[in-house]
Parts: sequence; C-alpha cells; structure tokens
Amino acid sequence: CSDRKEYVIAMSQCSEDIWREKLNTEMLAGTYLYDNVTLRVASANDDNVRQTEQINGFVNDGVDILIVAPNQMNTVTPAIENAYNKGIPVILFDRKTGSDKYTAFIGADNVKMGRTMGEYIASRLGGKGRVLEITGLKGSSPAIERHQGFADALKHYPGIELVAVSSGTWMQQSGRKAMEAMLDSVGGNIDYVFAHNDRMALGARQAAQARGLAGRIKFIGIDALPGKGGGIELVRDGVLDASYIYPTRGDMVMQLAMSILEKHPYQRENLMKTALVTKDNAEVLLMQAEEMNKLNDKLNMMHDRVNMYLTQYSHQKVYLMMFIII
Ligand code: FRU
Repeated sequence: CSDRKEYVIAMSQCSEDIWREKLNTEMLAGTYLYDNVTLRVASANDDNVRQTEQINGFVNDGVDILIVAPNQMNTVTPAIENAYNKGIPVILFDRKTGSDKYTAFIGADNVKMGRTMGEYIASRLGGKGRVLEITGLKGSSPAIERHQGFADALKHYPGIELVAVSSGTWMQQSGRKAMEAMLDSVGGNIDYVFAHNDRMALGARQAAQARGLAGRIKFIGIDALPGKGGGIELVRDGVLDASYIYPTRGDMVMQLAMSILEKHPYQRENLMKTALVTKDNAEVLLMQAEEMNKLNDKLNMMHDRVNMYLTQYSHQKVYLMMFIII
C-alpha cells in the first residue's frame, strides 16, 4: 500500500574478496522478501579513509540504517559514531569498533575460534611441538580476538611453543611474505602454522612449498568457504589441515536490520554458530553447500522471472490506460 515506508539499507564493507561477495549476495537475496527495501553496498578495499568517506556519503544521503564492517577497530570509528549520533541505527557486523555507539552487533565469536584452533593443534601434536601464527590486519578486531583466543589456549600446553607471530593483512600474498620472513628468522623446524584466514594460510603454504617444506609443516586457517578454491575444498584435498567456518549469513544480517527498522524486538549482541572443518567432515559440508547453491540459483531465477512478469504486467496496464483514454 502507498503509505508503506521505503527503506534504504546501506552496507559499508571494509574489503572486497570472495567472503564479502558471498555476504553481499546473501544480503541482496534477503531483500527479495520485502518490496520496500533498497540495498546500497560500498566497498572500501581495506582503506580507512575511503571507508570513512563512504560512510559519510551514506549519512548525507539520509539512509535509514547503516551496516558496517569496520576495517580496523578505531580508524573509522568517528564516522560510525557520527552516523549513530545523527540517529541512524548502526549494525556492526563481523568486525567491531572500540566504541559502544552502535545499535547491534552480529558476527561470530573470534576469541572462541582462536581458542579452538589452539586446542586443535595441541591435540594433533599430542601436546608437544613448534607453532607459528600469522595474524590478520593489525588493529582489526578479528585479528586481535583470534590471537587472544589462540594464545590463551596454548598457555595450557607448555610443550607447545609459539615460536613466532607475524602479522599479515588478510590477503594471500601477505601470508606468503609473513611466512618467508619467519622461515628466514626461525628456520623450518615447525609443525603447524595457524593463519587467521584461509587465504593467508594458502600463501604461507606456498612460501613453505618454495623451500621444500610443504610436506613437513601443516597449515590451518579460518573462513572455510564453500565452492571452488574455498577453504572446505582445500581441507578436503589436504592442502590445508583444518579450517573453521566463519559464517557470512547475509540473511541473518538482513533480518536484524529489518527488525530494527520495523521496531520489532531484537538482541543487541548476536553470535552466529560456527564449526571446525577437518578432513572428516569436509566432503559432507561440500555436498550440503552444493545443495544450498542450487536452491539459491533457483530462488534468484524465480525472482528474475517474477520481476519480468511484473514489468510486462505494468506495461500492459499502461497500454490499457492509453486505450481507455483514447
Ligand atoms: C574477509 C576477511 C576474512 C576474515 C574476515 C575477518 O574480508 O578477510 O577472510 O575471516 O575478513 O574480518
């Protein structure tokens, strides 16, 4: 009906990669459930200044809600606080700020993820071994939290030595560089490498491979994306030893945004479920993901068809009106 409010949902993504693309696509599919919602997505390509400008742009345009994954904890905070102070509800997703000026958070428990990976390594090594860690971008909240959880877990295993920690930028190439530098300084007598995402784990493995060490050292990451070249496949194929599902769940992010906009009850802190991926469950997870993909493709096709019919229908209506007027 005509008095229904139209909503513009603005989404500020810190980066551009397949994990973010999956999330954007899910968010878009989430809008199909509503006929009064427009989604605007801006990607900052890991650039704090750009993300600040993009958020300010959304605020000036008077969007109804801002969903943001802040590149680092503090650098884009002023822009986010400004949006919040102007009365725009703010959802933080995946990454956090150091400020409490936000309406709701949705993401996964990164401390728990780091801890699980520490415990996993300790159990695989029987409590004794030498480990390296490659963190995500300095100052971004998942990197801080994953490191904290990992270091906490290893404290309980005195036989596991965290030989070196180096920081990457979430990119594959940065994992490679970090690994090269660590191999240079501590040598190749290493059992496991924990990288904060699968892309960096893959980069690190390439560095080890170039030195003939890929068979000796095991690599684990986080994200476990389904699909070609994704983390689940890498685990199934033995390229990575394990990964951890870092859920995108754009549908849940969308639902939270709608609850806030429509003044329905919602929780301020929302943690999504996650799971460890090893060779034991990778195949089953891939099969499930394939099924999901097929269903999503069907949904998108149906959405396009309905749109086509609606367009045809409205054209017919216009013709009919013209006919009546003539
Ligand atoms: C995607 C990504 C993931 C990582 C997450 C952390 O942009 O780099 O690989 O798990 O961000 O926020």
